[in-house]
Amino acid sequence: MAGQKDGGPERNWRPATEAVLAGREPFEHHGFVNTPIYRGSTVLSPTVAQFAGKSGRYVYGRRGTPTTDALAKAITTLEGGAGTALTSSGLSAITTALMAVARAGDHILVADTVYGPTRHFCDTMLSGYGVETSYYDPLVGADIGQLFKPNTRAVFLEAPGSLSFEMQDVPAIAAAAHKHGAAVLMDNTWATPIFFRPHDFGVDISIQAGTKYLGGHADANLGTISATADYWPKIKETTGSLGLNPGPEDVFLMLRGLRTLPVRLDRHMASGLKVARWLEGRPEVQRVLHPALASHPQHAIWKRDFKGACGLFAVVLKPFPQGAVNAFVEGLALFGIGASWGGYESLIIPFDCTKVRTATKWNPGGPTVRLHIGLEDPDDLIEDIEAGLARLAG
Ligand SMILES: Cc1ncc(COP(=O)(O)O)c(C=O)c1O
Repeated sequence: MAGQKDGGPERNWRPATEAVLAGREPFEHHGFVNTPIYRGSTVLSPTVAQFAGKSGRYVYGRRGTPTTDALAKAITTLEGGAGTALTSSGLSAITTALMAVARAGDHILVADTVYGPTRHFCDTMLSGYGVETSYYDPLVGADIGQLFKPNTRAVFLEAPGSLSFEMQDVPAIAAAAHKHGAAVLMDNTWATPIFFRPHDFGVDISIQAGTKYLGGHADANLGTISATADYWPKIKETTGSLGLNPGPEDVFLMLRGLRTLPVRLDRHMASGLKVARWLEGRPEVQRVLHPALASHPQHAIWKRDFKGACGLFAVVLKPFPQGAVNAFVEGLALFGIGASWGGYESLIIPFDCTKVRTATKWNPGGPTVRLHIGLEDPDDLIEDIEAGLARLAG
């Protein structure tokens, strides 16, 4: 894409530069650096012919505005896809993408470790519409080929796995899926396209909950669906048919978040690793589930395919009673207890995957907590956790 000045040479920049430039057209907006918030349903046409032919650049608010176009273009640039659809949440991006590829009578393969509500959608709405879901072990790799049925239309991946952080061999699974003519979808919210570009590894449809790191400030919900040229028409048609469009303020907040995404992610990664490594040395801790640690069972896959790690990981504690774990969590000064993640603030939640796994067994051998390491000073976070571990052991 071009630079800050109209008429500059077209070229591809490095991701941090793309994050600054992508989707911006200042001279379409009187030179203002940021694309403004366009609110609107009705778009007027100067002539009957233009109205009838829908030939204006914009035709109806739900079908796109300069604000939504700016974000969609920017995500397309970062993902390296053919087009991007925007939805009002990460979950609606997932459900829309699944609806785009599966029809009644089809079968889909979904990683056992997907985000819980993805699973809920497959087990309720999709099954109600006649689509059968089988859950597979995320570590299956190329052996996923054995799980295909003649009617398998899609494979859904998420890496690392929600809560339990298994890494998937994305290129091996994608190659096997393509051999069977199935679509490959991936929830890439953890890495974002800054740290992992799914399309470069064979994924046809790459999904992000922009709610997390793209927004980055815990103040907006949004989902993005990026597709390759083969799948973009299906995604565009499905999003259009369903009438999905996110609110303009949320789109603007995503554009604002995008400009600092690489810088924030670098800090989340550095602080996250510092806290994770410190936790590994603690006597109260059994294991730290963080793909960028050498101790992670699929660390080699992370190292081969990913350029970085965000601030989200989990810890398996030694077998303390749940009451002591709760006292540890509740007494922390800098970690809020809350779902979602990717904002500037640190978070912690206790979790248990037992009820949301069917193809694999969840048996970590101790209570588990998930941490999101925010942008606070990591030494303050470590001191806070240290005091918490004293409460836990005491
Ligand atoms: C991995 C993952 N994907 C998708 C979502 C859904 O995002 P949203 O809350 O915007 O629907 C979440 C939310 O926690 C998530 O963790």
